[in-house]
Amino acid sequence: MTDRLTIAIQKSGRLSKESMALLNACGVKFSVNEARLIAHSTSHPIDLLRVRDDDIPGLVMDGVVDLGLVGENVLEEARLERIATDSVAAYQPLRGLEFGQCRLSLAVPRESQYQSLQDLDGLRVATTYPQLLKRYLKDNGVNARTVMLTGSVEVAPRAGLAEAICDLVSTGATLEANGLVEKDVIFRSQAQLIQRADSLSEEKQAMIDQLLPRIDGVQMARE
Ligand code: PRP
Ligand code: ZN
Ligand code: MG
Repeated sequence: MTDRLTIAIQKSGRLSKESMALLNACGVKFSVNEARLIAHSTSHPIDLLRVRDDDIPGLVMDGVVDLGLVGENVLEEARLERIATDSVAAYQPLRGLEFGQCRLSLAVPRESQYQSLQDLDGLRVATTYPQLLKRYLKDNGVNARTVMLTGSVEVAPRAGLAEAICDLVSTGATLEANGLVEKDVIFRSQAQLIQRADSLSEEKQAMIDQLLPRIDGVQMARE
């Protein structure tokens, strides 16, 4: 039996289409059945695991999959979370992928009196990225409380859950639509290709070594 290389990608979300497109452009062909978690490549001994982006860092760090395509925001949040809980947080960064660019920013309601970061002292900030937020607040000596929400963070101020939010911004349309103003960028992100930390079989490593120059070629051609 051949040793199949496994790659985790986001099932649906901001990185999905471009993750698939990149693999395709590298000559790795898939026919994806929307309802299926696993897609087998029709051109290579490669399996795609289509999962929630938040699960990708852990799958790679636990060695459940060989490679992962994931946003640096999700990756760094997961790494900090694992360090905080004494879990294995190792992986090998392979390539920045030049798509999925976004920033994690602090935002407040338009009518807020906010002038500087210190104004958050004693206030509540809603976020899906508590680790990145806490690190930033700590580095800047601000004592704010973190309110963890897994989604719809932008409604937190109106719902009376928090005075500010810390969420991903790409076009800014979501902030705008919710009467929020971006104040401070705390983390800049793009998609990244990562590999599990332990060594792979020769066959699998050879496949990765073949894939990387193709990725570089695809990126060069796009510039
Ligand atoms: C992020 C973020 C906002 C939106 C911002 O969500 O939570 O909702 O994108 O993008 P914009 O500035 O272009 O409006 P994402 O799509 O990553 O999904 P999630 O919130 O479900 O993780
Ligand atoms: Zn997510
Ligand atoms: Mg969102």
